[in-house]
Amino acid sequence: MCGIVGYFGKRKASEILVDGLRRMEYRGYDSAGIACLFDGQIGLVKNAGKIKDLRAGVNASTDASILNATLGIGHTRWATHGPPNELNAHPHLDASGHFAMVHNGIIENYKEVRNGLAQHGVECISDTDSEVLIQLIGYCYQGNLEDAVSEALKKIKGTYGIVVMTDHEPGKLVTARCGSPIVLGIGKDETLVASDASAIIPHTRDAVYLEDFDMAVITDDGVEMLDLQHAPINREVTAMDWEEGAAEKGDYAHFMLKEMFEQPDAIGNAIRGRLDFDMGTAVLSGLDFSPRETALIGRVLVVGCGTSMHAGMVGEYAIEEMAGIPSEVEQAAEFRYRNPIITPTDLVVAISQSGETADTLAAVREAKHKGAIVSGLCNVVGSTIARETGRGVYLHAGPEIGVASTKAFTCQVSVMLMMALKLARTRRMPRHEGEELCGWIERMPELVEKVLTQNDAIKAVAQKYAQCEDTFFIGRGYLFPVALEGALKLKEISYIHAEGYHAAELKHGPIALLQENTPVVALLNNIPGKDKTLGNAEECKARNAPVIAVVSEGDEGVADGFDDVIVVPDCPPCITPVPTVVALQLLAYHIAAARGCEIDQPRNLAKSVTVE
Ligand code: AGP
Ligand code: GLU
Repeated sequence: MCGIVGYFGKRKASEILVDGLRRMEYRGYDSAGIACLFDGQIGLVKNAGKIKDLRAGVNASTDASILNATLGIGHTRWATHGPPNELNAHPHLDASGHFAMVHNGIIENYKEVRNGLAQHGVECISDTDSEVLIQLIGYCYQGNLEDAVSEALKKIKGTYGIVVMTDHEPGKLVTARCGSPIVLGIGKDETLVASDASAIIPHTRDAVYLEDFDMAVITDDGVEMLDLQHAPINREVTAMDWEEGAAEKGDYAHFMLKEMFEQPDAIGNAIRGRLDFDMGTAVLSGLDFSPRETALIGRVLVVGCGTSMHAGMVGEYAIEEMAGIPSEVEQAAEFRYRNPIITPTDLVVAISQSGETADTLAAVREAKHKGAIVSGLCNVVGSTIARETGRGVYLHAGPEIGVASTKAFTCQVSVMLMMALKLARTRRMPRHEGEELCGWIERMPELVEKVLTQNDAIKAVAQKYAQCEDTFFIGRGYLFPVALEGALKLKEISYIHAEGYHAAELKHGPIALLQENTPVVALLNNIPGKDKTLGNAEECKARNAPVIAVVSEGDEGVADGFDDVIVVPDCPPCITPVPTVVALQLLAYHIAAARGCEIDQPRNLAKSVTVE
C-alpha cells in the first residue's frame, strides 16, 4: 500500500527521495522516512505525518549522510502493524545499525520470526511486522548483501516489496518483490527503484518491472537481475508512456476534482480506435478471440474490488443483456477463497485501476490455475495484473492519484460496454444495433461534459446536505451499481455514513433508519424500473426523508414533490451509469469540501490495496 523509493546515482539522494515520496503520497500517508548512505554512515530522518513534515525534517538535518549522499531509500507508510508513529515509520534499521530497509506488504509469520530472533539475542524495537525482516537480513549477513537478503526472504511468509542497503557495502542497493510492485527506472548514470512509476517518470522513461521472487542488485556496474537462488534472469526494459505533468494537480484544488473534469478526455482515450462502425462492433486487441472462440465462451465472471467491482456489475448486466452470455460479478477476495467452480469455457475478467490489488491478483491466479481464459482490465501499464493476464485491455485513463476513484470507473464502464458489444456482435446482436451502440459510446465524453457544466448547481445541492450524518442511494437495473458507487464515493471522502441499496431492498429493513435528516438520493433516470424506483422514493418522502432526485433531461416532471433535483442527459439504459455517476462524484466531492475533509487523502485509506 505504501510508497517505496530508492536512488542510486550521482545526484543528491535526499532531494530525489523526498520528491519521489511526494509523488507517491497518495499511496500511504500516515508516516514517512528516508535513509541515506554516505562515507560509510547511514543517516535517518523519519516522522509521523505527511511528506511536508518529512521534507521539513530533511531540510533541517545537519547529518552529513543526509546532506551528501547519492544513494538512499525512502518510504511513505500505510500502517498495517503498529500505529503510525516515528518508531514504526520506515526505513527500519537492524540492531547493529548497519542495515536499512523499506518494506511494502505484510510479513505474515513475523511473530514466529521475532521470537526466533529473540532466542539469538536479537530484539526488535518497533511494533511493525517489517522490522523482523531487516533484523533477519542483518543476522544472516556474511559479507554479501544479496546473499543475506535471499537467505532472509526464504525464512519469511507473506508479501514484500523491499529495498535494502548496508554501510558494509556502500555502493549497493538490493531490491526484491513478492506480491508488492517494484519497478526500476534506468537512467543515465543513475538507477531509481520505486513501488510506483510516478516516482520515476520525472527522471527516466525506461522501466524494468520485477516479477515475484525477482531480486535486483544495483551497483556502479549496473543492474543485475537474479532469482532467489541467484540464477541470472532477464527482464525487458519497457518504455513508460505517462506524461510527467499528468500526475500533477495543476490549478485544481484536488486531484479528485481534476480527475472528474478529465473524464471526457479520459473516456475519449479509452474508446479511441476501438469502435468499428462498419461492423457495428468494438476492437479490443487484448481480447483478440476469433468469432469461433467467442462463440465458445460459456460464461463471463468479473472479479474486482470496490469501485472496480461496481464497474464490473455494469459489465455483467451489459454482457447478459446484449450478448446473452451468463455473467456474474464477484468480490475478488470472495472469489479466490470460496473455491469457485470454473470451466475451460469461462472468461474471467479482472478489473483493477492499479493492477496491483492483492485480492484481484490472487483471483486472477486462481482462475488461471483452474484453466479459465483470463483477461485483465487495468489502467496502470505494466502493472502486475496487466502482465499476468497477458490478454489485457488498458483503460488509457492516465494516472489516477485521488484515492477516490473517478475517471477509472467511467473508463472501466466504457471498456466493459465495448467488451459486451464485441461479445454481443459475435452472437445475437444485429449490425444496426451494434452501430447504434457505437454511436452512443462515442457520445459518452459529450454526455459527461454536460454533467460537468452543472458543477455549480450540484455544489449548491451538496451544501444543503453537507451536515447530515446518514444517507441512502437507491437505484435499479443499470443504476443499482451506480447507487453503490455513489454511496462509496460519499463515505470515502466525507465520512458521512452512506449506503447504496437496490431500490426494492430499502423496505426490507433499511427504511427503518429514515428520518427528516436522512437524505435519499434516488436514481430516477428514464430506464426500465424508473416507475418502481419512483414509488420507492415516494415511500422515503412519506417518512419525511429529503429526496434528491436524479432524473433524465426532458423528464424533469418526475422530480415534482421532491426536495432537490439533478438533471443528467437522457441516454439508453446501458449508457446511463456514466453520466449519472459523474453527478454523484461531484455531489460527494462538494459535500466533502464543505465539511473541510482531506479529499485526496481520506483517513484510513490508501490508493492501492496490495495487502489482504
Ligand atoms: C475507490 O474509490 C476506492 N478507493 C477503492 O474501492 C478501489 O476501487 C479498490 O481498492 C480497487 O482498486 P483497483 O481498481 O486499483 O483494483
Ligand atoms: N506492514 C508494514 C508496516 O505496517 C508495511 C506497511 C506498508 O506497506 O506501508 O509497517
